[in-house]
Amino acid sequence: MTDILKVAMPKGRIYKKAAALFREAGLDIPLEVDETRKLVISLPELNMEFILAKPVDVPTYVEYGAADIGIVGKDVLLEEDRDIYELLDLGIARCRMSVIGLPNWQPGIQQRVATKYPNVASRYFREQGQQVEVIKLNGSIELAPLIGLADRIVDMVETGQTLQENGLVEMNPIFEITSRLVANRVSYRMKNGQIQSLCDRLQQVIGGNVTN
Ligand code: PRP
Repeated sequence: MTDILKVAMPKGRIYKKAAALFREAGLDIPLEVDETRKLVISLPELNMEFILAKPVDVPTYVEYGAADIGIVGKDVLLEEDRDIYELLDLGIARCRMSVIGLPNWQPGIQQRVATKYPNVASRYFREQGQQVEVIKLNGSIELAPLIGLADRIVDMVETGQTLQENGLVEMNPIFEITSRLVANRVSYRMKNGQIQSLCDRLQQVIGGNVTN
């Protein structure tokens, strides 16, 4: 009898893509799991338990061992910098982190950048040799340059629709983002057989997936 594998799944827009990938890999996740408001979901047939966490918190649950593995975007991994293993690029939820601003943006004396990713943004501008003040926001980041809170933003671009509808332009792409499978360091050793077999099944599916 193997232990239950605790999987931190990101609530929200990545969840359905992650669940679809698991299903493609042959894991029979009941469809009602997609709609539930329950936060801990037991999947005894799979020897798994899903923990539905806010995406930004997935690395925290995994680092502390509250979850053995998790699915999380590369954006969150780079922002949070947690002590966990990154096992697999799942190739889902593909988008990019970019510097964005109004089309007429000019470098000013006071440069303010709004973002949900203060560590990523600070690191980027430091590497570029640009002195900026980074302002942390929690969502609707595109609002900041429109109403004069900041000159530019650092945010995710997926389809570009939010930028287009708000008259903003992408100035510099910083890095590509996809979702990753991550593991707690101790769990990776103690539950290696289970984790490895899941990786193998996922790997077979993502070999062919490049665009979702
Ligand atoms: C994300 C991101 C952008 C938008 C990009 O926001 O912060 O605002 O999606 O997607 P697009 O290029 O397809 O328009 P999200 O919807 O996660 O909400 P948030 O504003 O609360 O962060």
